[in-house]
Amino acid sequence: MKGAEIEMEPNEPLSAEDAIAAYRTSTTEELTRTARALTERIHGKGIWVRGLVEISNRCRRNCLYCGIRRGNEEVVRYTMSGPEVLSVVERGVGRKIWSFVLQSGELDPIKTDDLARLVESIRSKWPDIALTLSCGTLSRSEYRRLKAAGADRYLLRFETSDEKLFAKLRDRSTLKRRLRALTDLKELGYQTGSGFMLGLPGETPEIRMGNALLCKTMECDMVGIGPFIPHPGTPLHSARSESFELTERMTAFVRLLLPFAHVPATTAAGTMDERGRERMIMAGANVVMPNITPQEYARHYFLYPGKSVLDEKMENFGKRLTPLGRELRFGRGDCLKPGEPTINIKRSA
Ligand code: 5AD
Ligand code: SF4
Repeated sequence: MKGAEIEMEPNEPLSAEDAIAAYRTSTTEELTRTARALTERIHGKGIWVRGLVEISNRCRRNCLYCGIRRGNEEVVRYTMSGPEVLSVVERGVGRKIWSFVLQSGELDPIKTDDLARLVESIRSKWPDIALTLSCGTLSRSEYRRLKAAGADRYLLRFETSDEKLFAKLRDRSTLKRRLRALTDLKELGYQTGSGFMLGLPGETPEIRMGNALLCKTMECDMVGIGPFIPHPGTPLHSARSESFELTERMTAFVRLLLPFAHVPATTAAGTMDERGRERMIMAGANVVMPNITPQEYARHYFLYPGKSVLDEKMENFGKRLTPLGRELRFGRGDCLKPGEPTINIKRSA
C-alpha cells in the first residue's frame, strides 16, 4: 500500500495524532522527505556543530547496555584535568566551534564541585560560548550550582519510556526519578535535551512510540536518538540490533512531533551505518557533534563497539553535507522559541 501523502500548512499547530498516522501509514521515503522539508523550513540548511568532550569515563551506575558501566573492569578509567579540558576547548574555539558538550558517566556528588569549578573557568575565559553538560542524574541543588557556575544546557536521555524496562536496564533506578531530574533542569532554566536508544532488548513498537511522545510531552529543546549497539563487555553482549531504517523512521517521527527541537545526527548512527549520520540528516536531524576528546582518552570512552574515536576533520564532514544540500553552521545554536509560525501536518486521502 502506498503511504498517505503528508500535507503541510503554515500557521497551524502540529498534532500528535496526525504525526502518528503519518508514521503508521507512510513509507520511509515519504516520512523522511516530509521531515526533511519541515526541518529545512524551520532550521534552514545549516547543521549546527557542537564539540563533544568526554571529560571522564567514571560512572557510579551499572546500566546493562553500556560499555563504561561501573562493573566493567576492563575499562581503563580516566578523568581529564581542568587545564586539559580548557586546552581542548581553546583548540575548538580556534576551529570556530562555539558550542561545547562536556560529557561523563554519572557523577559522584563529591565530583560536582570540581565540575562547577571547571565550568566557572571555561565561562570566565569564553563568556559567549554555549556550554552543555551531560553528566547524569544529579540533585536539584547540584544542577543549580552548575547553572550558577555558567552551564546553559543539559543533556539527559531518559533512554526508554517504559518504567519496567528502565528499572531493569538501569541498575534498578526509576524512570520517575530521571524525569524529575529533567523537570528540575527545565525549572532551573537550562535548555534541556533528552532522548532514547532504539532497539533495546525488551522494547516493543508501543514503547518506541511512547519514547517519541514523551519527548513531545516534555517539550524537549533537543532530542538525541541512537540505535542500541550491543557491547561485548556487557550483559547484553548477545542482544541483536534493529535495522537502521528504524532510526531513520524514528528521527523523522520525532521531527514531525517537535519541529523546533535540535536533533543531532548521532555517533551511534554513524557507527551502525557508514552513512548513518547523513541518513539521519536526511530524516530531519540538524546538529552534528564531532568528538574533540584527545584520542588517548576517547579510546577509553567505549560505550559500544566500533564507536569512532577519531576527531575527524570537520571540513571533510562538511564536504559530505554538500550533496545533501546542507552545510556546517558554527555558533551557539540556541533552541528556537516556538511561537513563530508553526506547521500543521495533515494527511490527505
Ligand atoms: N549502544 C548505543 N548507545 C549507547 N549508549 C550507552 N550505551 C550504548 C550502547 N550500547 C548511549 C546512551 C547514553 C549515551 C551517552 O550513549 O543513550 O545516554
Ligand atoms: Fe553510566 Fe550513563 Fe553508561 Fe549508565 S549509560 S553506565 S549512567 S555512563
